[in-house]
Amino acid sequence: MKNVCILGSTGSVGRAALEVIDNLKSEFRVFALSCDKNIQLLKQQVEQFNPKYVCITNPVSAIKFKVGNPDLSGSLFTGLDGLKTLASHPEVDIFLNALVGTIGLHSTLLAIKNKKRVAIANKETLVAYGKIIMHEVNKNGASLLPVDSEHSAIHQCLSQSNAPVRRIILTASGGPFLHKPITADITPESALKHPVWQMGKKITVDSATLMNKGLEVIEASVLFNIPASKIEIVIHPQSIIHSAVEFVDGSIIAQLSSPDMKLPIQYALTYPKRYPSSIKPLDFEKIKKLEFMKPDFNKFPCLRLAYEAAEAGGTMPCVLNSANEVAVQSFLAHEIKLTQISELIEEVMKKHVGATALLRFIKSPSLSEIEQAEEWAQQETKNII
Ligand SMILES: NC(=O)c1ccc[n+]([C@@H]2O[C@H](COP(=O)([O-])OP(=O)(O)OC[C@H]3O[C@@H](n4cnc5c(N)ncnc54)[C@H](OP(=O)(O)O)[C@@H]3O)[C@@H](O)[C@H]2O)c1
Repeated sequence: MKNVCILGSTGSVGRAALEVIDNLKSEFRVFALSCDKNIQLLKQQVEQFNPKYVCITNPVSAIKFKVGNPDLSGSLFTGLDGLKTLASHPEVDIFLNALVGTIGLHSTLLAIKNKKRVAIANKETLVAYGKIIMHEVNKNGASLLPVDSEHSAIHQCLSQSNAPVRRIILTASGGPFLHKPITADITPESALKHPVWQMGKKITVDSATLMNKGLEVIEASVLFNIPASKIEIVIHPQSIIHSAVEFVDGSIIAQLSSPDMKLPIQYALTYPKRYPSSIKPLDFEKIKKLEFMKPDFNKFPCLRLAYEAAEAGGTMPCVLNSANEVAVQSFLAHEIKLTQISELIEEVMKKHVGATALLRFIKSPSLSEIEQAEEWAQQETKNII
């Protein structure tokens, strides 16, 4: 029986993870859960899964929860320190980071240092702090399993062979604007209608601009130690092939399934074992066709920016990610247009290498230098907005 700590249990990935655990009750026990503000759902999860501890990061929500549930106050942690305590708790076997943004960086590092199995959905942390995280993984001999469906697919393909890799084929659904023009009047409501995946708001907007795929290129480069130039994006609207790896001999191994996040989550929890799951079986006759096309880098400039950030390395992926996080929040708040997201990111990235930059690009940054770059990029993006 493995104890699982899920940070971000009220989100899309967190909820799917609880469904996986509910289906594999004999293998996994929910040890700890967390939310930021959604205490109503957290309460329901507590009633259903009876975790030993919960953490609520938002201070006002934490007080409300305490007042409403005095019997649970002994098992309640709060704030970022609470996340860190739970991630590194001696009784935790598996730590699932299902948070959005880089908020869970230090809990992830602590889980790695304490040799937990780390299942990571949280791509922003990997994009901004990937080198630092992988250094800690290697130093501590920890096990880090990707939860993003494409990276789970790549992990599954790579585990078939030690042969050199010619390229990684990273598939993308294409998002809601694949066959529609991207115009200045696109509202957050229309950008939030994803054709395939039901996800949190931030990643859904990233899927509309294709920044999600750009972040995934950097994530794959970090996780599998392969240059971004060897990672090719292919638009595949059916989202059946979750990604593929081409080996040196020209063989391509791909991973296929119905699009359902429960599968990569389960794989990250059970690897190297496999268990029955509730995933809908693939019916090839019903699918009939699988389409593939090249992404349009002019229509989706975030892709170009992500490759540029990956190639620059150092503090640049963090700057790209932070500018994007701030820009997406502003778009969701109706403050800027969808088309301005890439413009803002590009401007901030240019400032980061400019001669008058207050915080210059660093090629081999320390953890604290990346944190400074993150803060600078957030502030700079807000200033421009
Ligand atoms: N959704 C997917 O299918 C999917 C697929 C692949 C990768 N990912 C990645 O997985 C991560 C989570 O995505 P998601 O779609 O599940 O996001 P989501 O639905 O927005 O959920 C985010 C979770 O993090 C919590 N949270 C938000 N802000 C926080 C803060 N400041 N401090 C502490 N906790 C905070 C939320 O709590 P509240 O509910 O209280 O706000 C919620 O539990 C992202 O990095 C995303 O890119 C997601």
